[in-house]
Amino acid sequence: MTSTAMTGHATTAEGSRSRFANDVRDFLTQHPRQLPSRYLYDDLGSALFEAICRLPWYPLTRAELRLLKSHGREILDAGVTTLIELGSGSGVKLSALIAAAGTGRRHLDLHLVDVSKGALTQASRALEGLEDVRIETHEGTYEDGLAGFRLARHVAGRRLALFLGSNIGNFDPPGREAFLGSVRQALNPGDDLLLGADLLKPERELLLAYDDPLGVTAAFNRNLLARINRELEGNFELDGFAHRALWNEARSRIEMHLRSLRRQRIQIREADLDFVMAEGEMIWTESSYKYDPAQVVSMLERSSFRVRAQWIDTADRFALTLAEAI
Ligand code: AVI
Repeated sequence: MTSTAMTGHATTAEGSRSRFANDVRDFLTQHPRQLPSRYLYDDLGSALFEAICRLPWYPLTRAELRLLKSHGREILDAGVTTLIELGSGSGVKLSALIAAAGTGRRHLDLHLVDVSKGALTQASRALEGLEDVRIETHEGTYEDGLAGFRLARHVAGRRLALFLGSNIGNFDPPGREAFLGSVRQALNPGDDLLLGADLLKPERELLLAYDDPLGVTAAFNRNLLARINRELEGNFELDGFAHRALWNEARSRIEMHLRSLRRQRIQIREADLDFVMAEGEMIWTESSYKYDPAQVVSMLERSSFRVRAQWIDTADRFALTLAEAI
């Protein structure tokens, strides 16, 4: 296994801290107040997210794993030589996919991209036992990972990019189009993208998935404030904020918010912020869009992909779509 430290200011410790501070200042001063959801994933946030994936009320991960196991052979046919997983998390899905492909596959170069060092270490461990694979980890953002992948476009054989877990749902529509465009640009015609997307389902089920009775999702959400306290010298009192999950039907998305339980003064030294939050005021921390299967097809077609196959888990309403770059 090799590990690549991505170069560039964004991934040096100093550079990423100042980018975090700038984003916190820009987003917390908007109306309504917001924080970018990518900052939910420090090492503790990533571990909490892994716990969410095991909750009985959050079916996405299990549904996607079932699909990967059932269709691994079709997804990873003999021509694929290189895989890149954007947001690899614990590596469990990639290892299930490779195991499901069975014998007859070629040697595989695996590129794992994640912002969390802890997640990359865990993923490398999960994949190390597989035969005939070479693992490279890239600690950085999706954009950092795609930039590296774009440079390595001359490798022999087909390449497959994986964007699983309905991470696509965390982009708003313009960000999603831009992201799919940059994935397409990193691929050669004939390469593939495998996209996991959560589907529309009854509101009651969606709300339970994002506001679980054990409070793990609430801890995941509040950890963002704890992270600001740790890394940017903030003074958030965690018991002064409640986790809220709301279904926005018009936009077809679940929204996570943190609601201020009292009037309170917030100071974040490294972000040069000092402001008052009213009782009931919210900070919007994440959107999770839900789709119908045809919407997934059309978003891929708009970004110059041709859908080769779409598999749907009907029990938990989740779609895996395999699309070829054209
Ligand atoms: C990573 N992402 C797809 C998750 C989701 O479902 O939007 C993050 C998450 N937020 C709350 N629970 C899980």
